[in-house]
Amino acid sequence: MGWREEVERALEEIEKFVASHEEDLQRFKEQFLSKEGLVGKLSRLIREVAREEKAELGKALNTIKTKAQEKYEFLKQKLEEEKNRFKCPEDTTLPSSDTLKFSTHPITKTLGEIVNIFKKLNFTVAEGPEIEDDWHNFTALNIPEDHPARDMQDTFYIQINPPILLRTHTSPVQIRTMETHKPPIRIIAPGRVYRNETVSARSHVQFHQVEGLVVGSNVSIIDLKATLDWFAKQFFGPGTKTRYRVSFFPFTEPSFEMDVSCTLCDGKGCNVCKYTGWLEILGCGMVDPAVLENCNIDPDQYSGFAFGIGIERLAMLKYGIKDIRLFFWNDFVFLSMDI
Ligand code: PHE
Repeated sequence: MGWREEVERALEEIEKFVASHEEDLQRFKEQFLSKEGLVGKLSRLIREVAREEKAELGKALNTIKTKAQEKYEFLKQKLEEEKNRFKCPEDTTLPSSDTLKFSTHPITKTLGEIVNIFKKLNFTVAEGPEIEDDWHNFTALNIPEDHPARDMQDTFYIQINPPILLRTHTSPVQIRTMETHKPPIRIIAPGRVYRNETVSARSHVQFHQVEGLVVGSNVSIIDLKATLDWFAKQFFGPGTKTRYRVSFFPFTEPSFEMDVSCTLCDGKGCNVCKYTGWLEILGCGMVDPAVLENCNIDPDQYSGFAFGIGIERLAMLKYGIKDIRLFFWNDFVFLSMDI
C-alpha cells in the first residue's frame, strides 16, 4: 500500500473512531499520534521519499496530525462527560439539579379536585377492585345477559367461566357499598376502568371515572340536580350552566346525561363543543328499584341517585388537552407541564 492510500484510509478511520472506554482513547493515541504510530511513521518517511513528493507528504502529515488531535480532544471530552453523568454526587442528600421539573399528573390533579368538591358535601370516598366478577359489574346493576356491554368487544375478560373481568365502569362500587352498608349512603368512588376499544385521540382501553351514590329516605331528583349543578359550578366556575338530557342506563330510572355550557366559548359555539355550546360530562339517574333490591335495600323505604363522571374528559376540557393518549404515554414534556 502506497503512503497516499494509507493516509486516505487513516483519515477515514479517524473520522469513524468511537471510544467507549479510556482504553479506546489510549489505543487511538498510539495508533495515530505516537512516534510508533502513523504520525511517527510518516515523519520518518519524509526523509525517504523522492524530493518532489516531500511537500505533498508533509501536507498530508499535517492534516493527519490536526485531524487526529482534534478527534482525540473530542473523544476525551465525551468520555469525561459520560463519566460525570453517571457519577454519584458525594452528598446524596443534596437537592437534584432543577433541569428536571416535576408536577402532579393531570389525572391525579383532576381526581383530587373532584374529590375535594364532593367532600364539602360530606361525601366519603369508597373504593372497589379493578378485577371484578359478573355480579358486581353487570348482573346486580340490572344489565341483562344479552346487553351489548357484556360483549367481548367491550369487556376484557380474565376468565370466561365463571366470568372474571376488568371492570368496565366504577358502578360496581355502588353495589359493593350497598351490600355492606345500610342507608343513609353518600359516597364517591374514584378509580380506573377498562374497555376493549380501539385506542385513538378520543378513546382508550383504560380511563378513570368517579362514581357517586346517594341513598336515603326521600332522596329525589331535586337532590340529584342540586348536587350536580353545584359540582359543575365548583369545577368549571360560577357562571357554568347545566342541562339534562334523557338517556338510558340499565341501573338508573329515569336516566340522564348532564351537559355543561362550553367552557371554551361560553356557550357561543366552537369546534370543541361542535358548535352546540354544550359539553357532555356525565351520566346520572335515580337508582333503579331493582338494583336496590339486589342489594337487600327496600325500595319502598329508600331511594337514591347515582352518577358517573369521566375524568379524562373533564381534564381534557379543563386543561385543553387534545389527545387522551397523552395521559398514558409518560411523555416527559407533557408530564412536566404545570397545569
Ligand atoms: N356507569 C355509567 C358509564 O360508565 C355511568 C353512570 C354511572 C350512569 C351512574 C348513571 C349512573 O357509562
